[in-house]
Amino acid sequence: MTTIMPIYGTRPEAIKMAPIVAGLLAAPDLECVITVTGQHREMLDQVNHLFGIVPDHDLNIIRPRQTLNGVLTRTIEGLDTLFDQTVPDAVVVQGDTTTSVAGAIAAFHRGIRVIHAEAGLRSFDLFSPFPEEANRRMTSQIASLHLAPTATSRENLLREAVRPEDICVTGNTVIDALLEVVQKQVPFSDPALEQLGRSDRRLVLVTTHRRENQGEAMRGVGRALARLARTYPDVDFVLPVHKNPVVREAILPQLQGLEHVIVTEPLAYGEFTRLLSMATLVLTDSGGVQEEAPSLGKPVLVMRENTERPEAVAAGTVRLIGTDEDRVYTEVQTLLDDADAHHAMATAVNPYGDGRAGERTVAAIRHLFGLGDRLPDFTG
Ligand code: UD1
Ligand code: UDP
Repeated sequence: MTTIMPIYGTRPEAIKMAPIVAGLLAAPDLECVITVTGQHREMLDQVNHLFGIVPDHDLNIIRPRQTLNGVLTRTIEGLDTLFDQTVPDAVVVQGDTTTSVAGAIAAFHRGIRVIHAEAGLRSFDLFSPFPEEANRRMTSQIASLHLAPTATSRENLLREAVRPEDICVTGNTVIDALLEVVQKQVPFSDPALEQLGRSDRRLVLVTTHRRENQGEAMRGVGRALARLARTYPDVDFVLPVHKNPVVREAILPQLQGLEHVIVTEPLAYGEFTRLLSMATLVLTDSGGVQEEAPSLGKPVLVMRENTERPEAVAAGTVRLIGTDEDRVYTEVQTLLDDADAHHAMATAVNPYGDGRAGERTVAAIRHLFGLGDRLPDFTG
C-alpha cells in the first residue's frame, strides 16, 4: 500500500490540509499517516477537533516565544526520528510556514518524495512576507509534485523551470473547507458574538499577526481601530486575537475600554466563518482570510505592502492598503460611508477554488504513484 504522510503544524495549514486528509483517508489504495509538528497548539488542536482529525504522530515542538530556527530544527529532528520507524512514500506539506519547509527538507534528505500543496504563490519580494516567501521558494526546489491553486501560481512555477507535468492546478483547499463549514452557521460560544448575530448593526472583522507588522505598525493599526470605534458608535469591531504574545502586546493596549470593540480568543473555524459571513468588511493581514472573504462577497482591506494572492485584487474585492494608521482609518471610513464604494468591492468571486481542490489533490497524488488519472485542472 502506498503511504502518504501529511505534515502540518499551524492553524492555516490544518484548515487547508483537512480536505486533503479526508480525501486520503477515503482512498482505498492509499494509507494516510497524519503527522502534526505542534508549531501551534491550541489553534491547531481547535481545527483538528472541528474536522474530527486525530493525528497519528504529534511532535509537540511549540515553545513560548519560539524562534524560526528553533521551530525549524525541532521539526527536522523530530521528523528524522519518526522516519526511522515510519517511511512514507511521500509527504504532503502545505504552503509556506516553517513547519512546511522543514517537513519538505526532512523528507527530501531521507529520499522521500515531497508533495507541495498551495505551490507557486509569489510576492516577488524575498523579505515580505518574511520568512514565508523564502520558505515557499525553497520548497518548490525540492518538491516532486506541485499543487498550484490557480493558473497564476502555475505560471510562477513554470517561470522557475518547474516541469509542466509536475504541476497540477487544483484550486485552494481552503475553499473546500470554507464551503463545508460556513453553511453550518454554528452557534457562537461567546454570548457577545451571539448577540451580534441577532442585531443588524454593521460589523468590521479584524485579524492581524504577520511578523512584518509586529511592533509599531501593529500599534498604529490598534490606534486606527480605536479612532474608528469612537467615530462609528453604530459599528461593531471584532478582533479574534492571535495567540502570539507579541501580537497581543502591540494591539491590545490601544483597544482598552472601547465599548464596541470586541476582542476574543482565536475562534473555532466554524465560528470564524460565520462571523465572516456576517461582516460588512474585513481588515486583515492574513493569507487565508484574503482567500475566503471574496467567496462570501466581503470587501477585504489587506494591511500589507504586497500580496502573493493577486487574483482577488484583480477581481476588485481585495485592496492592499499597508499599515499606515491614517490610511487604515480612511480606507475603512470610505467603505463605511460610501455605499457605492462598498458595493463595488462586495461582489462574490471565486478565483481561489470551487470546493473540489481536495479531490483534485488526491487524484494527482494517486497519479504520481500510477494509481489513476488526474482530474482536469481548476480553471477559475
Ligand atoms: C506562523 C507562520 C505564518 C502563519 C501563522 C498563522 C511561520 C514562519 N509563520 O506565524 O506563516 O501565517 O503562523 O497563524 O511558520 N502560539 C501559542 N499557541 C498557539 C499558536 C501560537 O501559544 O496555538 C504562540 C507560540 O508559542 C509562538 C507565537 O505564538 O511563540 C507565534 O507562533 P508562530 O507559529 O511562531 O508564529 P508566526 O511564525 O508568526
Ligand atoms: N481563522 C480562524 N479563527 C480565527 C481567525 C482565523 O479559524 O479566530 C481562520 C481563517 O478563517 C483562515 C485561517 O484561520 O482560514 C487563517 O489563519 P492565519 O490568519 O492565522 O494564517 P495565514 O492564513 O495568514 O497564514
